[in-house]
Amino acid sequence: MLSTLKNAWYAAAYSHEISDAPLARTLIEQKIVLFRGSDGTLGMIANRCPHRFASLSAGRQIDDTLECPYHGLRFNRQGECVFNPHSKNHGPLRAADIRSWPIMERYGIVWFWPGDPARADPTALPTIDFLEKPDEYAVVRGMLHVRGHYELVVDNLLDLSHAAFIHPQFSGGNYTPEQLLAATKQKLERRERSIVNHRLRSGLGPSSAHVRLFGMDPNVPVNTDTTMTWHPPAMLDFAVGSWEVDKPWETGVHIPQLHFITPETEFTSHYFFVNGRNRRQDEPEIDQAMLDFFDLAFARQDEPMIEMVQANMGEISDINELNPILLPTDAAPVSARRMLAALIESEHAANDAPVASLEKVVAAM
Ligand code: FES
Ligand SMILES: [Fe+2]
Repeated sequence: MLSTLKNAWYAAAYSHEISDAPLARTLIEQKIVLFRGSDGTLGMIANRCPHRFASLSAGRQIDDTLECPYHGLRFNRQGECVFNPHSKNHGPLRAADIRSWPIMERYGIVWFWPGDPARADPTALPTIDFLEKPDEYAVVRGMLHVRGHYELVVDNLLDLSHAAFIHPQFSGGNYTPEQLLAATKQKLERRERSIVNHRLRSGLGPSSAHVRLFGMDPNVPVNTDTTMTWHPPAMLDFAVGSWEVDKPWETGVHIPQLHFITPETEFTSHYFFVNGRNRRQDEPEIDQAMLDFFDLAFARQDEPMIEMVQANMGEISDINELNPILLPTDAAPVSARRMLAALIESEHAANDAPVASLEKVVAAM
């Protein structure tokens, strides 16, 4: 069973994915369609017409509505059936209303709220510093479809010790995994509603991207920050940067990233990533080089590993059911899983409260 936090923002799509045509996607086991009204405002509604169950995503956008391709019912952004071509006055058919979700656009991303619409609070989305500074950072965006449970993707990002083994290019390929691990200091910080895994490697050379794309000297020792901040349920604010050991942070090459995962089903995930850079911001060939660099890391190194893990777990999505061996580097993913489980549990407890009190009343009779 797919277990998720309901009252939280999840990514549905990038804003640029929805233009003239509607976009169909499965998000947290719901088939949805995203479409824009004539003023550009987005709506996200169920992608199944309640009449004969055609996919609304195969229909046309007309003014502020989406027209079913089969018999022409039209739905607005709130999921209300506002036009029925089979009635005399073509008026609304309220019995045909379908589900809609609260959404908002921020950072070029469409976010949706799967829980109680009355609690959809825009301020609940964490602020991502580098995305607030478009003058300082250029960004490129990407997306993967991973055949693995969403928490396996979060585990991968919160235990970056794997980088020494499966991403040799991050260290320029000049060091053994043991040298890399020995030079890296890690410190876990648990906050009220986030986990920060501080990682600082000192005294070794910069990554191959820092050398090849941003001209850093491979032989000059640097500090390399790879601190990851996790926000529940599955958003990771990743500070990545290198600067010479005897110089301030500001002099460095920084390529901060936002990674965010939305479950598609229990065993598949949408994995979005936005990568910034504070150097060579206006050069399209660097955009492509960054995308190529991260395609190697995420699509050809991380993704197959996560999919291998899920395949070896079979039809089980919670890794703890299989009693995994724990290493010291698992502290961050284990803490995040615990915090998320506690948040989901408290959501269930709040939903169950009226039932529990009813049981007490019955028991007392
Ligand atoms: S299936 Fe949509 S109007 Fe008939
Ligand atoms: Fe990785």
